[in-house]
Amino acid sequence: MKHQVNGNTEGVRDAMLARLDSLYDVVLEMDEFLPRELMKLLAECSCQLNREIAIYLTRDGEIVNVAIGTDCDVELTDYRLRRNPRRLSRVRCVHTHPDGDGRLSDVDLSALKIFRYDAMTAVGVRNGEPTYVQSAFLDEGETVLLPEPVRWYRLPEAEWLEQILRSDATVGREAAETVRQGKERAVLMGIESEDSLAELARLAETAGAEVVGSFLQKRGRPDGALFIGTGRAEELARDCQALEADICILDEELTGVQVRNLEDVLRVKVIDRTMLILDIFAQRASSAEGKLQVELAQLQYQSTRLIGQGLALSRLAGGIGTRGPGESRLEMNRRRIRERMTELRGRLEEMERQREIRRRSRRRNETPVVALVGYTNAGKSTLLNALSGSDVYVQDQLFATLDAVSRRMTTPENTEYLLTDTVGFIRKLPHTLISAFRSTLEEASMADVLVIVSDGASPEMQQQHDTVEEVLSELGATEQTRIEVINKCDLTDPAPSFPGAVLISARTGEGLDELRSRIAEALQATHTPVTFLIPFSRYGLLGEIRPQGRVIRECHTEEGTELTMMMALEDTERLIRKYGAGIVCRKEEPGEKA
Ligand code: GTP
Repeated sequence: MKHQVNGNTEGVRDAMLARLDSLYDVVLEMDEFLPRELMKLLAECSCQLNREIAIYLTRDGEIVNVAIGTDCDVELTDYRLRRNPRRLSRVRCVHTHPDGDGRLSDVDLSALKIFRYDAMTAVGVRNGEPTYVQSAFLDEGETVLLPEPVRWYRLPEAEWLEQILRSDATVGREAAETVRQGKERAVLMGIESEDSLAELARLAETAGAEVVGSFLQKRGRPDGALFIGTGRAEELARDCQALEADICILDEELTGVQVRNLEDVLRVKVIDRTMLILDIFAQRASSAEGKLQVELAQLQYQSTRLIGQGLALSRLAGGIGTRGPGESRLEMNRRRIRERMTELRGRLEEMERQREIRRRSRRRNETPVVALVGYTNAGKSTLLNALSGSDVYVQDQLFATLDAVSRRMTTPENTEYLLTDTVGFIRKLPHTLISAFRSTLEEASMADVLVIVSDGASPEMQQQHDTVEEVLSELGATEQTRIEVINKCDLTDPAPSFPGAVLISARTGEGLDELRSRIAEALQATHTPVTFLIPFSRYGLLGEIRPQGRVIRECHTEEGTELTMMMALEDTERLIRKYGAGIVCRKEEPGEKA
């Protein structure tokens, strides 16, 4: 790209323009605010021209604009992110005052406010040499921080760089408030398929964004620095600007460097699919355990991506990708993050132990569990409500349910069971989330019967079903009885099908009776009533048998105590092996009605 010097270049000699043009090749180190050599060069040129010179520096130390002004002002440029007028522009303006006065003028300070520069800096110039330098920074509630001018060779570079980050955090927090009040405008970029991109759009909407554009690029190998090619990134930057986007969401997992590089090119906030899903989970988690799991997942994901405090703090700008318990801790340094992660793991392990105890006691009480599993938005919660007559949160959104919800149910044959709704599955479910939510997802693998709910109205049904199968086998949930259900039949005509599937509509109630009897059948196959007769001489056995299942009836006869229980076949058989067939007086065969 050919750079050129902007502003009032009339009458300026080519040699001078070439010299100023070469500023575009200068890159500052990360710990440099304004190196002395650069200051001297600006002073020298400004003096020769007897005009102001302004340079605009990004946080990465690149000079993105060089401009010459008249003797009283240079044209100050608007670097604000288009739709985030309240955020800092990530660009600082350094300009000379050829009259020797290093103090910032009122015009300079109002430009700082209007254009929301990272900093506004004036370098006084006398006899071709810099004199004093002053910088101003934005602070809370539109106020300006204005440290005293300093001699040019005494520039507190580290302090001023830190001040930019502090201002960014303060202003960003305020900007986040305004973002919260309106929807963020999102541009999506996918490189895989239309389907995946369409799903990303639903995810973005679920997170509260308004999708204003989506682009697909079919390409072989991801580009290291930007993920998409440089040319495509520049095109995307123009699209983002034209569509007045606040955020660009990539349909793949990006590295921290890629996010930062893309943000610099696109000039809007950039997040990837994983961050988006984490954001949704962060908003949805409601149980204490769910919140800890999300926080751990966020920290795990972010800790591998922190490249210095710059990026971490810029994330405080608010909105999608910056919410949730884990995010507020990104101001912490790596050591504190590691400590917090260890603490979270410890607390989660403790909760997992408690859960295991509850699970075991449930096993002992032997209330069988029927879990509804399926791709997100398949209609699991609607089905749970329809079957149980309850009122679980249902939304046409992805991941409406995050915590497993259970309802106590009874079959027409009086078999009690727990019907559990589980978190919806999704393709490319981030690994950090699978491990974080393992215990919640394991509810499904512990169930006695799995009802796999598919969305019959989705053209992606088969693929979604494959994803569900994959996640289930990853969780080791392969042994249980499965009932295939195809939901939303009211929307499809003729309804698609898997062999043996029950076609239902959770909305209209169609097919629900059939499903109820399939569940009852499946439960019967695993849990049957059995009546023990415990003679008085072996009275102690009662205490051992009772907790193994659910007691239906207990009565005392002349021969002893008759105990009728609902019990898993394997447990009945184990008891018979241990105490002999004599203790059983009646046992139903699987499938027989109680
Ligand atoms: P997650 O919580 O994301 O896992 O979703 P879910 O599987 O629990 O789906 P949910 O019950 O929230 O339903 C998703 C959307 O599908 C809602 O808008 C429901 O109203 C709709 N829906 C569910 N069942 C049916 C149905 O049988 N017919 C029709 N037309 N819509 C349905």
